[in-house]
Amino acid sequence: MRHQKMKGLILSGGKGTRMRPLTYTSAKQLIPVANKPVLVYGIEAIVAAGIQDIAIIVSPETGPEIRENIGDGSRFGANIHYIEQDAPRGLAHAVLTAEDFLRDSPFVMYLGDNLLQHGITPLVEEYRSIDCNSEILLTRVPNPSQFGVAELDANGRVLKLTEKPPEPKSDLALVGVYMFDEHIFEAAKAIKPSQRGELEITDAIQWLLDNGFTVHPHIVKGWWKDTGKIEDMLEANRTVLDTFERDVRGTITDDSSIEGKVVIEPGAQIIDSVVRGPAIIGADARIVHAYVGPYTSIGNKCSVERCEIENSIVLENSSLSHVAGRIEASLIGKNVKIGRTHRKPVAYRFMVGDNSEVGIT
Ligand code: TTP
Repeated sequence: MRHQKMKGLILSGGKGTRMRPLTYTSAKQLIPVANKPVLVYGIEAIVAAGIQDIAIIVSPETGPEIRENIGDGSRFGANIHYIEQDAPRGLAHAVLTAEDFLRDSPFVMYLGDNLLQHGITPLVEEYRSIDCNSEILLTRVPNPSQFGVAELDANGRVLKLTEKPPEPKSDLALVGVYMFDEHIFEAAKAIKPSQRGELEITDAIQWLLDNGFTVHPHIVKGWWKDTGKIEDMLEANRTVLDTFERDVRGTITDDSSIEGKVVIEPGAQIIDSVVRGPAIIGADARIVHAYVGPYTSIGNKCSVERCEIENSIVLENSSLSHVAGRIEASLIGKNVKIGRTHRKPVAYRFMVGDNSEVGIT
């Protein structure tokens, strides 16, 4: 059993191109799932595994916002440091960027846009109890060619890792959590950038295998989600909301109906409306003459009036009113206003940022 102190590294830099336009103004790791930023799930999982010293890799663009939201870590029982990566040059490059912080202890590396149902405690405990240089987390997926894929031998040992193979040799994809000791720095320095110009963590782990270091595979039980795209975000939101228990606070008028697993935060008002769970309504939100259906997260201080919405995420301080059709499978940013205008001619009026998507029937 290794009693050595361990550290945590969360990767929260990157460009988040697949989540534009939200990532023009905000970090994708701060987008909430069930009203809690994705990044916070990672911090909590690391702290639950008994690790308090955590560094978060940030980009020059999103660093200030992430620091402001997460702070020094004291509210999570952690000690959080921030390390800026000049550009998203790959996951292995991020590891090198944090070398000074990490060199004196083994560490868990966690991709800041990932969510794991059972956290990482079993993985960290296994790594502490067995003698290996690295441990990787794997899960079976239906579409392995979109992931880093591991090939195991008959005894379950890792033979080879390949990043997004066109003809995958297994359906075991790498989940965004890894355990390393100091040999990973040697590996990351030895490899060359891939075709997409990044220092790939799969290449660094392959270097460990090729140079006689031990890499132990751990197959994840329970769900794992990578929230890189809107569909993934909505799916993660559904999965997390499903785990909630009913907890209704706020003010509910008699003509409203709250059905199933619904969380209503303090200060929220539900007036002549139906909220059907699983759903969460944030603090100080107002739901008026409206229907909020299953798998919806309404952020703090939002207003939903004379609208129907389900299977969607609305970020804080946005207002939706008088939308004739039901809003579905939508991700709506902060401070957004969607509503009726009385200006003539009667027409749709949009002021929509670059790379936005609006679907109308
Ligand atoms: P990705 O989702 O692979 O990359 P990205 O965030 O740039 O997104 P996109 O592909 O849509 O442009 O990154 C996984 C996580 O690792 C994410 O939280 C961002 C982080 N990351 C870094 O911190 N540094 C890096 O160099 C890279 C590539 C990613």
